[in-house]
Amino acid sequence: MDSRPVGIFDSGFGGLTAVRALRAICPAENIVFFADNGRAPYGGRPVAQLRRMAVQNLDMAASFDAKVIFAACGTLSSNAADILREYPVPTFGVLDAAVASIAAQRAASPIGVIATQATVNSGAFERALRRACPEREVYAQACPSFVPLIESGCADAENAALREAVAEYLQPLREKEIGTLLLGCTHYGLIAPALRDYLGENVMLVDASECAAGFIKNYLEQNDMCGAGGSFRCVTSGARKHFDALSPLFLGQKEPPETVAVPPMPTEEE
Ligand code: DGL
Repeated sequence: MDSRPVGIFDSGFGGLTAVRALRAICPAENIVFFADNGRAPYGGRPVAQLRRMAVQNLDMAASFDAKVIFAACGTLSSNAADILREYPVPTFGVLDAAVASIAAQRAASPIGVIATQATVNSGAFERALRRACPEREVYAQACPSFVPLIESGCADAENAALREAVAEYLQPLREKEIGTLLLGCTHYGLIAPALRDYLGENVMLVDASECAAGFIKNYLEQNDMCGAGGSFRCVTSGARKHFDALSPLFLGQKEPPETVAVPPMPTEEE
């Protein structure tokens, strides 16, 4: 038993998909979530800057006395995998678990990966999928307007701007007749209904947050580190009012969670 919290971080609301996934399968875990809304989006930033932000976010999560850290961000998981691996607190990104879950599918259809521009540029998901599923074709598509839309609250499947963006980005993947779509950015789980509407029921959506949550559950069980309590609190580097307005929507609950706002950490420009 270990009642220290699981520390989770992301550039913003996307990390709530990780929070939801972990709370669903580990309801007794105490969770502290750092949402770097003040610096979102991450996906268009240069690699060197992303790597510095990875260290800052890890240090922030460690400052909560986290027993494990969940880097609920595809962009940092793919651009700073070595930094996450070497961090002194056990840290899980979202890449390996998602790839392992797709490798277990035993399907032959092409795989689509949607993610931020920085994630697609890194080639990390494509490389790992080609290694794990050499018989399947892999097509990656950057979706740069999804995160700004979600951060501003446009996540409803009926939202016109979102529907337009979904059609623009997913059309090339639909033409390739993909059978699996990997949501390589944790924000995208928040727009799964819009993605599902466009692609239809026959394409399997794989949510990187849900896959990673399963990995973490196993790790905690195998290392006798399961928690007790089930508390949940948030720290945002954005405006508290904005976080309070949108977080209940994305968490599927009426009231905002206990949240404190902190100033954004300094970001050195390139
Ligand atoms: N949710 C993050 C990811 O998984 C960051 C997206 C962004 O801020 O651009 O990539």
